[in-house]
Amino acid sequence: MQNCWLLLFATLLLGSTIQASQVLYREENGVKTAVYLSPKFRLGAGSVENKFYHNIDFPKGHIALKEFSAEVVDEEGISVPLHETYLHHWVIMRYYALTTDNGEKELKTISVKNSGVCQNTLGQYFGLGSETRRTDTYVPDPYGIEVGNPADSPDGYVERWYLNVHAIDTRGVVDRLGCTECKCDLYNLTRDEFDRPLRSDYIGGLLCCYDQTQCRLREGFQSIKRNLYLKYTVKWVDWVDTIVPVKIYILDVTDTGERKGVARNSVGLTAQMAGCKVEYEVEPCGVSGECLDIKKTSIVMPKGGYVIYGAAHQHTGGIVSALYGEDGRMICTSRAIYGEGKEAGNEAGYIVGMTTCYPQPGSVKISDGETLVLESNYSSSQRHTGVMGLFYLLIAEQPPNNILLHVQETIKFPMYSWALIFLGLTIAFIAGFSYMRRNERNEGYQSLVA
Ligand SMILES: *[C@@H]1O[C@H](CO)[C@@H](O)[C@H](O)[C@H]1NC(C)=O
Ligand SMILES: *[C@@H]1O[C@H](CO)[C@@H](O)[C@H](O)[C@H]1NC(C)=O
Repeated sequence: MQNCWLLLFATLLLGSTIQASQVLYREENGVKTAVYLSPKFRLGAGSVENKFYHNIDFPKGHIALKEFSAEVVDEEGISVPLHETYLHHWVIMRYYALTTDNGEKELKTISVKNSGVCQNTLGQYFGLGSETRRTDTYVPDPYGIEVGNPADSPDGYVERWYLNVHAIDTRGVVDRLGCTECKCDLYNLTRDEFDRPLRSDYIGGLLCCYDQTQCRLREGFQSIKRNLYLKYTVKWVDWVDTIVPVKIYILDVTDTGERKGVARNSVGLTAQMAGCKVEYEVEPCGVSGECLDIKKTSIVMPKGGYVIYGAAHQHTGGIVSALYGEDGRMICTSRAIYGEGKEAGNEAGYIVGMTTCYPQPGSVKISDGETLVLESNYSSSQRHTGVMGLFYLLIAEQPPNNILLHVQETIKFPMYSWALIFLGLTIAFIAGFSYMRRNERNEGYQSLVA
């Protein structure tokens, strides 16, 4: 099966100038699967790619998304391991564009964000990072993420999707972890992408690994550029009314809840930026004490519902993250899975997956207005810069009910999908706020990545 895919992949790539393309389509028991390639990007040793591809290939029509995964592959369609190309993140954003605009030139767009409370920094629909290959992302029946409903598009607009890929080539670099953690000295940077000076205490993070930056190479290392793609796989079913819609929430442990004193603008709550920084730092522990960094925050959920899925996003050093209810009950715990070898999907020293939660339908409920506690534990045996503590939730506002049981039979999820799910959701997180930077730069707040 795997070989088949690769063969098809290679055939399509050979001798062609594919920019973005559908590599495979298949349908089984009503579940449709499409595999696409992002536009090609080219990385030399130590270099960084952080691009935005508008109007990407994506399933059309009124559908329920069931699963989303991605990975970096080379020109032969072979999976590229994280120690060669570190996938910092990939993010898929949903938006509306004017029907009259083509994908190259879109004058007016309206983004459609997730339902979380950090929309200005984390507006994406999907996204994961290095953990992409081994993090489950499927949405169990009878649930689905409803998209593409023409009735939801404003007049004169169509729904489209764009992709942000942030990848760091760490072949031949002096400090692999340092380059993936975007340490500013390794990138020889004192100013950001927009030529603004960095804060003197800013040691590392996204401001220091923007598109086309270069991490320090070992003396004499011969850099050979290579062509890469983000291969992304989407599964969906056609929308039917028996599917129960779920909402996507992305929570951030750096969210301090600061919202006050800043006015709403046309786009939304700009004030949210103040509290949702996305990245933080883990200070190294001293000689005494436990080398553990525990970060916690309280987040008020404007609207509640039944938790259908949960997964955290952490970077190297991350151990575990958990979400608790107001009464202290555990909502979901998500642990980092580290690789143990060399091959793609099992790279030693990297987070190659996060464990996920699929509570029994109806068993885990969040109330409207409930204050949740998000906790993110990292090892602090060394300093880490630009780490994250995000939490993804899928929430159904309706309870599961008997009427829905027969749906489970008609859209049964095939077993082989478990294997495919591996390929994972992880990187999308950050693109969201990078995009905001572009579109909302003038709104009077300083974005972390702007
Ligand atoms: C680092 O940046 C400075 C100033 O921009 C430049 O003079 C120097 O050559 C750079 N060093 C390296 C190793 O690229
Ligand atoms: C994080 O570490 C603290 C201290 O050891 C522990 O009490 C807590 O349970 C940990 N969090 C999770 C989610 O395991």
